[in-house]
Amino acid sequence: MVTNTVLASRHVDEFRKIVGEQYVLIDEESLQHYSHDETEDLHYLPEVVIKPRTAQEISAIMKICNKAKIPVTPRGAGTGLSGGALPHLGGVLLSMERMNSILEIDERNLQVTTEPAVITEVLQNTVREKNLFYPPDPGSRGSCFIGGNISENSGGPKAVKYGVVKDYVLNLELVLPDGEIIWTGANVLKNATGYNLTQLVVGSEGTLGIVTKIVLRLIPHPKHDLLMLVPFKSAENACAAVGAIFRAGYTPSALEFMERDALEWVSQFVSGSTIKIEEEVQAHLLVEVDGNDVDVLAKEIEGIAEIIQGFDCGEILFADNAQQKAELWKLRRRVAEAVRANSIYKEEDTVVPRAELPVLLKGVKDIGKRYGFHSVCYGHAGDGNLHVNIIKGDLTDEQWNGSLKDGIREIFALVKELGGTLSGEHGVGLVQKEYMNIVFNETQIRLMREIKKIFDPNNILNAGKIFDI
Ligand code: LAC
Ligand code: ZN
Repeated sequence: MVTNTVLASRHVDEFRKIVGEQYVLIDEESLQHYSHDETEDLHYLPEVVIKPRTAQEISAIMKICNKAKIPVTPRGAGTGLSGGALPHLGGVLLSMERMNSILEIDERNLQVTTEPAVITEVLQNTVREKNLFYPPDPGSRGSCFIGGNISENSGGPKAVKYGVVKDYVLNLELVLPDGEIIWTGANVLKNATGYNLTQLVVGSEGTLGIVTKIVLRLIPHPKHDLLMLVPFKSAENACAAVGAIFRAGYTPSALEFMERDALEWVSQFVSGSTIKIEEEVQAHLLVEVDGNDVDVLAKEIEGIAEIIQGFDCGEILFADNAQQKAELWKLRRRVAEAVRANSIYKEEDTVVPRAELPVLLKGVKDIGKRYGFHSVCYGHAGDGNLHVNIIKGDLTDEQWNGSLKDGIREIFALVKELGGTLSGEHGVGLVQKEYMNIVFNETQIRLMREIKKIFDPNNILNAGKIFDI
């Protein structure tokens, strides 16, 4: 059932000719399935779902859409948290799911070329077999696609030592909104040749083009890691310890913060958790070091533990076998799911210079008190990246959709004041764009809009994301 005045039945027939009958879906169940991602409780129905297999097919689809000005929303695995894959204008939902092959692992140059719908963890495990490492590891790495990670410039726990997606992307094949297919750069580690189109596309949230091939650099996989879980009576103290660790000369391979509720909720959510949380504990740090020499690592983790003890921590749990490490990481990785299962929530992906973390945390709690909301905070403390989950709980719909927005604006105003910004890794998408004017002035937003216009003059590709149409 095609309802949009722009998208007509003949377009659907043309799409069928391009990709094959079975990959063009207009039945109610399919449209529902693609109407949401992991963002809050938002749903928008597309008018048609298309599952192309090649860049050439996407090119042919885009030519039709560009001519008829049909909105197109590209979608990876639908694990996004800012609504980037929500088809809020109807039109075409372009699901990349069939483009899921790893094309080549170049062991001579430590590179991999892949299609976008490869699950991030599958890519990691595949290169791991060759002792190679692709570090960016978003919480959803077991289900998210590498293409979506490019669109959001994803991070994850390892970012603190190894950097985020942008630090690994060398070159991208891109279908432009008018259907032309280009490569953005070259498969090289250094490149001082003109504007950096590759990095412009990374983090552009599917608004500039559709990524169809990705060349990533890889590094040798570290041989060992050590992990510890540290409880604190004061969450602010836990945050304060983070800066001190780096100032003392250590670079952990992960340094994660979890408020009490985060760990408690996820322990209840994941069956069989063996982690005990003492009564007076308010927060935890999960600290990992990695490298090739286990003796060096043992010294490092002891050194870090010593620093942390200056911040009034409780008894440290050193994970002493692979099973315990896996359990701790499972708990950490599933916090988002646990929060989601607990209540409707809004997730603010704040990021500040890391030493400002204690001020940010205190500020978020103070603002919460004034606006009457409870928040569960956790995240990549080593990067100054705090996921602030605002829980709907007993808030009325009126409060939730009304005054809460002022509270969120206050949080972001504080973030800006501390030298930070709106999102560290989840993107702006649909749900954060109303806050963009807190961190950017008109000139900055105009420059971004002009860039969008050059790539997509008809504004058909993921329009209304990042900024209003
Ligand atoms: C995490 C995701 C939500 O850190 O970014 O678990
Ligand atoms: Zn995260």
